[in-house]
Amino acid sequence: MPRYPNHLTNEGPTNPFPGIKVLERKLGHVIPHRLGSNEGLDMPHRALREHFGDALAEHVYCYGDAEALGVRQRLSKQQGIALETLLVDAGADSLSALALRTTCEPGETVVSTAGTYPTFGYFAKGQGCLVVEPRYHEAPGVLAPDLEALAAAAHEENARLVYLANPDNPSGHLHSDSAILKLRDALPDTCWLLLDEAYGDFRDDAGSEFAAKALPGVIRLRTFSKAHGLAGLRIGYAIADPDVLAMMMKVRIHYAVSTFTQAAAEVVLDHPEEVHQHVADVKARREQLAGHFRALGADVLPSAELAEQIHRELLEAGRLIARPAKPVD
Ligand SMILES: Cc1ncc(COP(=O)(O)O)c(C=O)c1O
Repeated sequence: MPRYPNHLTNEGPTNPFPGIKVLERKLGHVIPHRLGSNEGLDMPHRALREHFGDALAEHVYCYGDAEALGVRQRLSKQQGIALETLLVDAGADSLSALALRTTCEPGETVVSTAGTYPTFGYFAKGQGCLVVEPRYHEAPGVLAPDLEALAAAAHEENARLVYLANPDNPSGHLHSDSAILKLRDALPDTCWLLLDEAYGDFRDDAGSEFAAKALPGVIRLRTFSKAHGLAGLRIGYAIADPDVLAMMMKVRIHYAVSTFTQAAAEVVLDHPEEVHQHVADVKARREQLAGHFRALGADVLPSAELAEQIHRELLEAGRLIARPAKPVD
């Protein structure tokens, strides 16, 4: 069983402000008079109402539901994910920082692939962890996080956590469900697997039974930033065993997801056809783009220098594209 930092394994810390929504659910009735939260309930919000409309203003007065029950209930119903295995936070990035805070102490080692989505490593270093980065597995037509190398590094370094983006950014590589289970088996028992599934909604088998499961020793992350188009509102969710989520809730910034963001996510979830269409459109564009590049004869990755030059030229022309922080040579 992967372990937690010592300071979290005793009673507490206890959140002093679980919030009125959570309290109401505990008590089983509505609390009509919100006197204890020191919110600006009598603010007229004339400018805000004029700018964004009354509907937005109605969502801004009160501290939100720290348990994001409405969002979790919808996710649970639509995807068959058990409610108690869902935790909502301010995006996958925020959740990876939260997972680090829940599982690692400064000075401990974590493992990630050199050149993969770099935010995890940035957060890990910010928390005083040592980041060990095996290289991508490369073969003709293949660029993929090297699962064997990740597991080997976890053993060699006595790592506390291994990060894997699946599908990966930037390589786009997708490891199969069985490969993920094999990786989990190959890791030391004391090591967590942080599985970043930010692009999971774009998988052809999205919504599968496996996708809905909390896996032992694994913290899975998903986001509303991509398929749901809500990157600016900051919302995502983790899937993990309830005892793991309880630990995460101990150190979570409880109002990190605003009332408005939760309301917006609920509206989007209530219109799944729009999300499905968006995903289909993105996939169609991906095929078009791939065909275009194939027609140009492009079947090799540009060198790091060329990539940097292209990136700079595009930026000067006002177009921002993602570029790996490390060369994948
Ligand atoms: C692999 C991966 N994880 C996480 C994120 C960030 O997701 P969020 O906006 O939910 O923080 C991104 C965004 O590009 C990503 O590519």
